Amino acid sequence: MTERFITDTLGKSDTEFDISLRPGRFQDFVGQHKVRERLELFVEAARGRKDVLDHVLLSGPPGLGKTTLAYILADAMGVNIKATSGPIIDKPGDLAGMLTNLERGDIVFIDEIHRLQKSVEEYLYSAMEDFVIDIMIDQGPHARSVRLNVPRFTLVGATTRSGLLTAPLRSRFGLTARLDYYAAGDLREIIKRSARILNVDIEEAGAEEIASRARGTPRIANNLLRWVRDYAQVKAGNRITEEVADKALSMLDIDEHGLDEMDKRILETVLHKFSGGPVGISSLAVSVGEEPDTIEEVYEPFLIQEGYLKRTPQGRVATERCYEKFGLKPGSKQSELF
Ligand SMILES: Nc1ncnc2c1ncn2[C@@H]1O[C@H](COP(=O)(O)OP(=O)(O)OP(=O)(O)O)[C@@H](O)[C@H]1O
Ligand SMILES: [Mg+2]
Repeated sequence: MTERFITDTLGKSDTEFDISLRPGRFQDFVGQHKVRERLELFVEAARGRKDVLDHVLLSGPPGLGKTTLAYILADAMGVNIKATSGPIIDKPGDLAGMLTNLERGDIVFIDEIHRLQKSVEEYLYSAMEDFVIDIMIDQGPHARSVRLNVPRFTLVGATTRSGLLTAPLRSRFGLTARLDYYAAGDLREIIKRSARILNVDIEEAGAEEIASRARGTPRIANNLLRWVRDYAQVKAGNRITEEVADKALSMLDIDEHGLDEMDKRILETVLHKFSGGPVGISSLAVSVGEEPDTIEEVYEPFLIQEGYLKRTPQGRVATERCYEKFGLKPGSKQSELF
């Protein structure tokens, strides 16, 4: 279980555990102050005009709170939310069925919106802009298109890869918000809140220890907390101190900077097999035995943000910090050492 902890944690859909810890209102949503402020204002303005909220696009790496915010928006607007995801909608008819069944103001949440099929996406354009959809009925010589009105609704789209969104789709969102990795202090608050909900005793330093190893990601913080809680229950009288957290997390092979085995494998591969880079994403993926998409969406953003890796037009390059982490001198010919 250890080496894929991050992938497993981020790749899976929300568990019951996740949902019980999910904040349901803006007041409980920790961190991301700018995003939260803008969304709250957006809601207040729409409510003040008794208007429907304009479409919102939420982007950012996995586990930072995009789905959570979609539900908070629905709650704050007092509307229903229907959730689906890009790859699930496989024909325009599915979308038409969904949109025609809405009430005015409802939120349609489309997760992984960058993975919508082209044909479905084109339907969405007129639905988002003019609240109509043109559907084709019959085939061959009798084929004709019928225009249907859909109630005014709010589309909330979420994506881990905003760069893959087409320009026409992106331009139809009234508000775009990008979530960034959380500061350690915010993660500490999230961990303390979760510990209260889970009814587990945690010291400030214990929360801090978990926070510093959670890759700036609430979902990872909550999952690490759950692991540390189990450890504390079995080995440490049910109380999470700094030492307990440290011992528990060391068992998962997560280092003091929150890097797990796969992170280290990626960095070491760039250093040793490719002499520090540049290396293309597909060669790197083959070398470490992971999907290119997973590397780009899950691992790389954090490694880049933390300054271990750089993305250049020629490929990924190890930084000075990366060499230092592995006790090497920048520029030394690593491949000769192995
Ligand atoms: N700001 C926050 N405050 C407290 N808890 C949070 C916050 N953001 C996220 N969480 C917790 O992290 C979990 C993951 O968040 P969420 O599912 O919203 O992430 P996501 O961005 O939709 O991820 P993905 O891209 O994988 O779908 C939530 O269930 C919630 O418990
Ligand atoms: Mg989500």
